[in-house]
Amino acid sequence: MSILVNGALAEGPKDPRVSLLDFLREHRGLTGSKKGCNQGACGACTVLANGERILSCLALAVQYEGQEIVTIEGLGTADNLHPLQQAFVEHDGFQCGYCTPGQICSAVGMAAELQRGVPSHVTHALDTDNIGMTRDEVRERMSGNLCRCGAHNGIVDAILETFAEVTE
Ligand code: FES
Ligand code: FES
Repeated sequence: MSILVNGALAEGPKDPRVSLLDFLREHRGLTGSKKGCNQGACGACTVLANGERILSCLALAVQYEGQEIVTIEGLGTADNLHPLQQAFVEHDGFQCGYCTPGQICSAVGMAAELQRGVPSHVTHALDTDNIGMTRDEVRERMSGNLCRCGAHNGIVDAILETFAEVTE
């Protein structure tokens, strides 16, 4: 069984109990995805599966046989930052940086959800596919990614600058 990880086929784990997060970190050496809580509460382990954001600590690697996983390492490199990574630098979107890979993967998935017209708890107009990326929408949609060190406003600013105009 194999999984497409950041564009390359990777042999999946023999043990079906291995979480996707452990597979990425321990088997593939992709330590960008972080293990914060290991129980679905912090978002530090967020990766993209077929373009959708998921918590890799709550997923089994074998669930993703033949599917595409993108981690922070697949979004950008030190020499070629993803635009959102660059915006995090410019807006002081991190202090400790531990939550940052999950924040960035989550925001990329979140922007795609908005584009598809997926509503959130704070979306007022449910009869339109054109949901604006407002500060409130970003705060609500990123609420599953915890930052404990005070970079939250910088994170929201970086996301807004990268993906949309502030419409509030
Ligand atoms: Fe997965 Fe915290 S490590 S949600
Ligand atoms: Fe440290 Fe977010 S940058 S918890």
